[in-house]
Amino acid sequence: MHRIIKEKLPRHIAIIMDGNGRWAKKNLLKRVMGHEKGADSVRTVVKTCRELGIQYLTLFAFSVENWQRPKSEVRALSSLLEEYLRLELQEMKETGIKLITIGDIGRLPKTVRDALSDAMGKTSESRGMVLNLALSYGGRDEIVDAVKRILRDSKSTDIDENTITKDFFSGYLHTANIPDPDLLIRTSGEYRLSNFLLWQLAYAELYFTDVLWPDFSRDDLIKAIVDYQRRERRFGLISE
Ligand code: IPE
Ligand code: IPE
Ligand code: MG
Repeated sequence: MHRIIKEKLPRHIAIIMDGNGRWAKKNLLKRVMGHEKGADSVRTVVKTCRELGIQYLTLFAFSVENWQRPKSEVRALSSLLEEYLRLELQEMKETGIKLITIGDIGRLPKTVRDALSDAMGKTSESRGMVLNLALSYGGRDEIVDAVKRILRDSKSTDIDENTITKDFFSGYLHTANIPDPDLLIRTSGEYRLSNFLLWQLAYAELYFTDVLWPDFSRDDLIKAIVDYQRRERRFGLISE
């Protein structure tokens, strides 16, 4: 079996959870059923990451582009999220998970925003693992948003050309207080970023699998981590 080296765990794993629709089609079901089954994979992955001792897990749950899907699908996704938050809150508290979000949360329906702030408030003291949900998230939107806020702040504080370093800029992204992902996983055999964490993934190790998200299991996650641990991260340097 796969063996994980405890000392070499990725600190932050980010996942593009893709393939719910194709899973449903393959099983002659409605797309929504794929999302429902996908929510079970979320449960499994959150639990496994927590058990392994991963510090940060970011899940791409809804992209800013996904708003263009049929209304009924968008509605189903937000109900599922709301349900997930309500059902998992207790477990999150018990297992020390702190929930945070990135993305344009203001665009989500009020009931979802309420469920989110409730869950975030009640888990804010947790220290076990940060679960970061990317909701209504787009990487380019995030960068443009950062530029706008820097410009706004420059009117009241002295920000000039020399103030703007990479670290300074990172501090204006939605991910301001969390380290960059070490490992990015994308399921369903697609080889693209789809506007996910464009700035933050600069040096992440990329792992692609054909497994559709609803089929993604504990073992699939462990396989991805083992693969990550076999790699040499050079960051532009040389091996020696
Ligand atoms: C991922 O599955 C879930 C979301 C994007 C919300 P998809 O719904 O994109 O599934 P496919 O890509 O159509 O199979
Ligand atoms: C990316 O998947 C977004 C999420 C997983 C939430 P999509 O299915 O929306 O991406 P594309 O359309 O294949 O690029
Ligand atoms: Mg997709």
